[in-house]
Amino acid sequence: MVKIAVLGYGTVGSGVVEIVNKNSDVLTRHTGEEIQVKYVLDLREFPGDPVQEILVHDFNIILEDPEVRLVVEVMGGTGAAYEFVKKSLLAGKSVCTSNKALVAKYGPELIRIAREKKINFFYEASVGGGIPIIRPLINSLTADRIDEISGILNGTTNYILTKMTYEGQDFDTVLKEAQALGYAEANPEADVEGYDACRKIAILSSMNCGKQVDFEDIYTEGITKITQADIAYGKAMGCAVKLLARSKVIDGQMYAMVAPFLIRKDHPLYNINGVFNAVFVHGPALGDVMFYGSGAGKLPTAAAVVADVVEAVRHFGCNVLIDWSEETYELGSADQFSCAYLVRVAEADEEKLGALGSGRKIDAGIDGEIGFITETMTEEEFARRAADVPYISRIRIA
Ligand code: HSE
Repeated sequence: MVKIAVLGYGTVGSGVVEIVNKNSDVLTRHTGEEIQVKYVLDLREFPGDPVQEILVHDFNIILEDPEVRLVVEVMGGTGAAYEFVKKSLLAGKSVCTSNKALVAKYGPELIRIAREKKINFFYEASVGGGIPIIRPLINSLTADRIDEISGILNGTTNYILTKMTYEGQDFDTVLKEAQALGYAEANPEADVEGYDACRKIAILSSMNCGKQVDFEDIYTEGITKITQADIAYGKAMGCAVKLLARSKVIDGQMYAMVAPFLIRKDHPLYNINGVFNAVFVHGPALGDVMFYGSGAGKLPTAAAVVADVVEAVRHFGCNVLIDWSEETYELGSADQFSCAYLVRVAEADEEKLGALGSGRKIDAGIDGEIGFITETMTEEEFARRAADVPYISRIRIA
């Protein structure tokens, strides 16, 4: 019998308890052991919920119980979550977490402690919810030099952009609707400004280069300025607007960026709609691989956490090597990121488009303005060429 503790009884935490209880036979089949939740830590009470019988409010009860060999952290944040995870690891307990903020900030330190203690720190659910992407990077994609990891890593923004595209509603209306349905947080900033996707691509980029990619170093632009006019140009071009988190290695240098991109119909990420997420990976030997599924939600995320529990139990007494050191990786400057751009200008400014170089005009049927698709150039070159072009908006093209 393996006894575990769950820190946090929110959406994901209650899903973890539910899956461990309901799928007990499945977990036993995969681990050879029965897994039981001995404690749930939460500050709140849950009258009427059977969890009340195993609920504790003091983390030290878990920390000091030698029967607990594994801790699941699903509290979120980097305050108490960091303290409890670190103390658990130092006490020789493996940890599985869904907490992307914790992993993006403290991942390499926690991985090092786990290695020193011959235990494991796993975080599959921190990126892409129920989609397996962390373990494939550790176990399955290890023979190639991965040169691109790009993804739709945020369900809230993908839901908003999908509604804007297919139902013609504006950003504010869809956001309110998403909040009412529980797809968007009351404070949606982390999602709509791209900060959530930024932490997720920081984790994937770090795992690809084996060093710490600081999320603060990643150029990040959200979707709050995307309008129906931008979507209309996208449609006229055969493209969809998506918030992409991109990490590319060019001539040995990694670049990363989070921004809205126009994605062409033939790109594998074009058809990822609604709250779904997808991660596209490319390697010169491997070619293209794509992982698709539910990027959030109680049970998909909890299923990924519990799969980590299974993996940790299978590896009791043995650390699974994760190559992610505490050394900082210097990302290439976002100025050197290259792509083509859609630029919208007022008709009165059409003659100024010559400064952007060669390209082609596109008419989306919007009165008083014209679109222009540039050739591929770096961000630096675009900024220089566009300095005297009073454009209405510009969107990168993937
Ligand atoms: N807020 C996140 C999203 C939840 O919308 O994708 C999963 O990290």
